[in-house]
Parts: sequence; structure tokens; C-alpha cells
Amino acid sequence: MAKDHPLDLGVTREAALARAAQIVERAWQEFDHPRPSEPQQSAELTELLQRALPAAGMDAVAGIDFVADVLDNSWAQSRPRYLAFIGASGLEVGVLADMLVAAYDVNVCVDSKAANRVEEQALRWLGEYLGYPVDGGSFTSGGQVSNLTALAAARERMFPGTRRTGMNGVRAAVYVSDEAHYSVRRAVEVLGLGSDSIRSIPIDSQRRMNVDALRERIAVDLAARVRPMAIVATGGTTLTGAVDPINALADIAADHGMWLHVDGAYGLPAAGTTQARALFAGLERADSLSIDAHKWLFVPKACSAVLMKDHTPLARAFSHNEAYMPHEDGALNPVDMTLEYSRPARAVKLWLAFLVYGADRMREAVAQHLELAQLMYSLGQADPEFETLPNSPQLSIAPLRHVLPGCPDINAHNMALTFAMQRDGRVFISPGQIDATTYLRPCFVNYRTDESDVRAVIDVAKEIGRSICPAHE
Ligand SMILES: Cc1ncc(COP(=O)(O)O)c(C=O)c1O
Repeated sequence: MAKDHPLDLGVTREAALARAAQIVERAWQEFDHPRPSEPQQSAELTELLQRALPAAGMDAVAGIDFVADVLDNSWAQSRPRYLAFIGASGLEVGVLADMLVAAYDVNVCVDSKAANRVEEQALRWLGEYLGYPVDGGSFTSGGQVSNLTALAAARERMFPGTRRTGMNGVRAAVYVSDEAHYSVRRAVEVLGLGSDSIRSIPIDSQRRMNVDALRERIAVDLAARVRPMAIVATGGTTLTGAVDPINALADIAADHGMWLHVDGAYGLPAAGTTQARALFAGLERADSLSIDAHKWLFVPKACSAVLMKDHTPLARAFSHNEAYMPHEDGALNPVDMTLEYSRPARAVKLWLAFLVYGADRMREAVAQHLELAQLMYSLGQADPEFETLPNSPQLSIAPLRHVLPGCPDINAHNMALTFAMQRDGRVFISPGQIDATTYLRPCFVNYRTDESDVRAVIDVAKEIGRSICPAHE
């Protein structure tokens, strides 16, 4: 680029790349170990974050250093003791793939050749990994958009033409368990069905959708001339990792001609393991699946996919003809299968991970987390200072609570404990409200996490728990 161009980099590309590479290398080394404590933001960064838009810029290497400073002062999910919410781990090949994808900046909105073939192949590979017959689908920015995409296809198959006419007074019902992710409700709202169409079905003793209650609710709806549209099974609830009984739900969906979607944004990678496969029996009968590769398939955000057994309803929901995007020989554009227009080649990082590790090692990594959750559960059970849920974890979430003798309010204590642990930073954990009871909710999805980290949850929770409840005996 000409030296006097306004966007000339100002330093050599080699210098900028070398600096970025140094920072990534330093971050990766740090991520191999837990952080001793939460960092304190520097005065220089605090001042920068209050500045108005600069008219003149700064040296690119100095700017890159500020970016590193910002990221280092943010919650980094890649650390092995980040066990809050459902984390991510930024697999190295995924990070590198993201850099390359950004450098080439291919837009897979239209057929951009090889990058689109990778997207199609990655969808097929996901299907092979899970044992699901993929006919089509799309990569999306997350479980929220995957669920929305699947339900848009479901709505169009169940009520053809609705994308143009709206629901025209038809009352539809979408059935989810009481512990389904909120994204399903939001998808139903955005699709114009109204969240009153959500039927929250009670859960059974294993926190899975209660099949009898579902049948009863469908009967009530049919009697009231409400049209059952879809069942959304959760393949790993966000709160406890419960997997709804997919086979039984597929039977009910078939009885009523309904769509069956499995929201496996978090838990579906476990369906590829021999250890957890049985929990997902009947998966191949679902019309659509959501899976977030940026959760339990380790690649950086954002990388989710919606997989369909038959791509036609997806095309019916989204395809269109525009003068600026003609169809060559009637072939659909990738944008005809999804909501988004400009879209990065998100699939590349997952494709590279499968290419580099192979399915077996990816499965092994997921299976290790099933074991870590069992370990967490047994440590909690064995220690009189902790309580667990009655059933052992189905997937990789193992809630437990600190029940310190003499502590006046155990719920308030556990809530305060999670926040105190977040401030402390050695083990980063989030709380969960389960049956109006507060738990610490460690979730294991990071390939850097090992047994010592699980044991640290107990040690650190005890140490901090005792210190914040001085009333204990
Ligand atoms: C079961 C489930 N579905 C959907 C989502 C939303 O996914 P995303 O954050 O990728 O949009 C989540 C997020 O945790 C989830 O656990």
C-alpha cells in the first residue's frame, strides 16, 4: 500500500504480526494455569476508556498492546478454572483459523466456492459425529439464532405460507420443559407466535420434560383448537445438564404431526460419546438440532450450527429472489437457508479442529468432562460441608452447595460465596437457582480443566465460604 494512503499501517506488517503473535503465545501459556487472582485494571487503560473519539491515531503496535490489556482485564473463559455459566476454551487451531478467516474475509452469504464447500462438509461431519442424518442446515452465530432458524423452518412446514401472511389468528403451541433455555421463548416471540404459545411442561425427578404432562397439555390444547406446532427437547439443560427423553418426545411429535427440534446448544457434543450416547436415544428422529461448537467443541465464539434432516423447510422459510443476488440455474444461495446475510466462514475453525484432531480425540475430550462432573459430584457427596443434587450429573454440570454449620441462611450464603469466589478469581464459578435453592454450578467444558481444578472448587469454596460466614461453629 502507498506510504501516503490514509490507512497505511504505519509499522511493518511483520512487526504488527510479531507483536500479536507474542501476545497470543503469552496468553496461551497463561491459560494453561489458573489465574492466582483477578487483575486490577491499570490507570492508563481506565483513562483510555474514557477518551472521546481520537481524530488522529496512534502507533499500531501500541494499539495492539492496548487490546491485549483490555482482554487481559476481562473475564477470560479460556482459563482452566473458569467454570461459570457455560464457558468456552478457545482451542488453539480455532484461534488460528479465525485469524486466517478474518484475513481472507470470505463472505459465505453467496457461493464463495471452497469456503462454502467447507461449511457443507462441516455440517455433514457434525452429523457423522452425532449419528444424525444431515441433509442441510447452516452455521450461525449461536444457539439463540440456531433455535430461531429451526423454529422458522418448523413454522413454515406446519403452517405453509405463514412467512408472508403471518399467523392470521391461528393459535399455535410450542412445547418445552420448564428448564428449557430462554432463547426458545425469544425465538417464538420474534417469529410472531407470541410467547403465550410457549407451553412450559413440568419436569420429572431427573429434571427432564415429563412425558405424561406433555401428552395431557397437548390434549387440552387440541380441545381448545390450539394447533400443536413443535416440541423443543433440550439436549442438556443450561441449569443442570438434563437431557429430555428424545425418543418418547419423537413418538408424541409423530402422533400429532409436529416438528421435533433438539436444542443441544450446550449438551449435544456428548451424544457423540459412547458414555452418554444412550441419553440421546432417538436423536436421529428429530427434524432439527442446534449445537454450539463454541461451547463443548472448544472452538472460539461464534460458531453454532443448525442441522436439518430435510433442508426443504429451511429453504421454504428463508429463500428469496433479489435483483442483486440472482440464482444461477435456479440453484439456491447459501443465504436462502438462513437469516443472516454477510456471514464469515465460521465453519472453518470447527472443520480445522476435526481435521487436526479427528473425531475420536474430540470425543475423548468431551468424555473427560463427563468424568470431571462425576468427580465433582462424588467429592461433594463425600464432604459433610457440601450438598449435591439427589441424582448424579447426566452431562458436565455438577451443582453443589456449601452447607456450613451455623450459617443462618444457606441460600444467601451460597449466593454470596459465588460472588466472593468471582472477586477472588482463583476459581471462577456462577450460581444456579434450583427449586428455589441456591447452588454453586460448576460446568466443565474446557479442555484445559483437569482433576486438580475440580478439587480446587472444594478447597477454595471451603476457604472463602468459612471466611464470609464468621458465625459458623
Ligand atoms: C441449551 C441452550 N440453548 C441455547 C443457548 C443460547 O446459546 P448462545 O449463547 O450460543 O446463543 C444456550 C446458552 O447457554 C443454552 O445453554
